[in-house]
Amino acid sequence: LLILRSEALVEVVPAAYAAFRGLVEQDAVTFGPAETALGAAGPDRKRYLELSGMGGPPLPASLTGLRDCLCAMVTHSLDQIGTVVLPSGRALQSMIDRRAGPVLRLSWYPPGPVGPVNHEHTDIDLFTLLPAATGPGLQVLGDGRWQQVDPGADGAVVLAGALAQEFGGVPAACHRVVGDGRERISASLFVNARLDLLTDGGELVSDLFSRRLHEVQAPAGPGGWEHAR
Ligand SMILES: [Fe+2]
Repeated sequence: LLILRSEALVEVVPAAYAAFRGLVEQDAVTFGPAETALGAAGPDRKRYLELSGMGGPPLPASLTGLRDCLCAMVTHSLDQIGTVVLPSGRALQSMIDRRAGPVLRLSWYPPGPVGPVNHEHTDIDLFTLLPAATGPGLQVLGDGRWQQVDPGADGAVVLAGALAQEFGGVPAACHRVVGDGRERISASLFVNARLDLLTDGGELVSDLFSRRLHEVQAPAGPGGWEHAR
């Protein structure tokens, strides 16, 4: 697994999590609609909030700061990410949606549940950056078994998404979250392809995206990217 490093994450991530916990406690914002992963019995018991490049309601500076920090890591390491995610494919540089994206999602899982709290799935994007959550629990399927992944306080894991595969890249990384009974806060930066690109299979990215969104049973929001997992 590719793990990117930035010293800035050591302070930026906890600050964003603290601000997001405050929003959850005060029920201060409108959270994203419930999502049910393919094959899951019911929706995940989580709350989440997404920040795109399209603007939106004013949010604490620490949340936009985390998005900026992760976006800078993507820009800085794009060639390296490309060799891992799209080894034989085209340059990521020209493929990335910079209109609405990348999209930062913050997720909050309530205390209590032990076991999978985020059903196994692949993300509907080119790739996803995942800094460390407030606790362990992220698992990635590799060599036929679930492997714990911990990027550390200064790290962010890069996971290939389903769109990379559609452009001749590596298979999408199947992942899940296993709860240990404690409250959990995590962040994901979804990096998407431009909506007007055609996949190797000849499908418009916007069409493929609508199809996948329908599958996770979440209505599309403005900008269309908001519910990529
Ligand atoms: Fe995911």
